[in-house]
Amino acid sequence: MSNTLGERYRVQVFGQSHSPMIGAVIEGIPAGVVPDMDFISAFMARRAPGGALSTARKEADAPQIVSGLNDRGATCGAPLCILIHNTDARSRDYDRLRDIPRPGHADYTAAVKFSGHNDIRGGGQFSGRLTAPLCFAGALALQLLKEKGVAIRARVHSVAGIGDAPVDLAHPPMDGLCPGPLPCVDPNAAVRMAEAVEAARADGDSVGGVVECWATGLPAGLGEPMFDGVENRVARALFGIPAVRGVEFGLGFAAAGMKGSAHNDPFRVESGQVVTAGNNHGGALGGITSGMPLVVRAAFKPTPSIARQQPSVSLSRCEDAPLVIQGRHDPCIVPRAVPVVEAVVACAVLDMMMDKY
Ligand SMILES: Cc1cc2nc3c(=O)[nH]c(=O)nc-3n(C[C@H](O)[C@H](O)[C@H](O)COP(=O)(O)O)c2cc1C
Repeated sequence: MSNTLGERYRVQVFGQSHSPMIGAVIEGIPAGVVPDMDFISAFMARRAPGGALSTARKEADAPQIVSGLNDRGATCGAPLCILIHNTDARSRDYDRLRDIPRPGHADYTAAVKFSGHNDIRGGGQFSGRLTAPLCFAGALALQLLKEKGVAIRARVHSVAGIGDAPVDLAHPPMDGLCPGPLPCVDPNAAVRMAEAVEAARADGDSVGGVVECWATGLPAGLGEPMFDGVENRVARALFGIPAVRGVEFGLGFAAAGMKGSAHNDPFRVESGQVVTAGNNHGGALGGITSGMPLVVRAAFKPTPSIARQQPSVSLSRCEDAPLVIQGRHDPCIVPRAVPVVEAVVACAVLDMMMDKY
């Protein structure tokens, strides 16, 4: 089921960018949970469009829960269905893309796969808009994980090649990030990143970047070997976010250039617990959590819709055709993707916790 994430905490996302509504059906929530709507709304607001460095599209993103709660506002065991209205769609901006697909977007592949019946408006089901219901599901997962002592936080690791300061991956600074659309350890790095995003926007272009996510408080022993490991399940969730091009754990690709003596994290005992001195492994060994923080990075490509004229093709005339994209777009996806990364990691981690408990 391509629109469904998870086995026990199951999240099915539906809708298109310009359909009347988008939403999610969430199954597997224990009965008796009262969703903390203040927390969930604040979490979703971090992803909502219209903020600094993002598209000018404005959406309230007020989730409406239409099933799954009892008369006391607690989950009742039935699937929780949430709806979010699309209120600020400008579909005429997309008419031309039916014939001339955007380079880097899913217009062409969707037209082929769905024989031209795909909803082109706003990117249809491929739009970043579909990450709003994911954020609802992720915020609810965070609420449940908090009760188990698990916390999840993401920072902007880099934008346009401008990196944040390094951190101790064994003790990630969960509460040590600067406020604003680019949560970083180094506020000066956040300023330079914002300048790069603005410069790209002014130049009719876009930039990409990397989001790093930490999950602390995980017990050792979650996950399975081989195809159902922690990395497999978290990566599957992360690759569901549009525009994710790569996922790495711990030191990731950098590990390939290191010696074993430098990369291995020595075990030691601290307060009666087995821990590792560093966290190059990123909290997972053999697909199973080690009890150290889970560290995962997701690389986001530059936003495909840019304001410059680009070469494309006319599908009806089967000839080359230039394209100038109308509409409102994010000059960089990273700022809005930070809570989305936290959300899908929370869903995947809760799903694995439910395997164990
Ligand atoms: C939060 C978020 C916002 C996005 N905003 C835009 C946007 O404004 N314009 C755009 O062309 N793509 C945007 N994207 C990316 C496209 O949805 C994505 O590149 C496209 O569906 C193709 O999928 P792929 O990049 O995974 O291959 C956004 C993605 C996310 C997660």
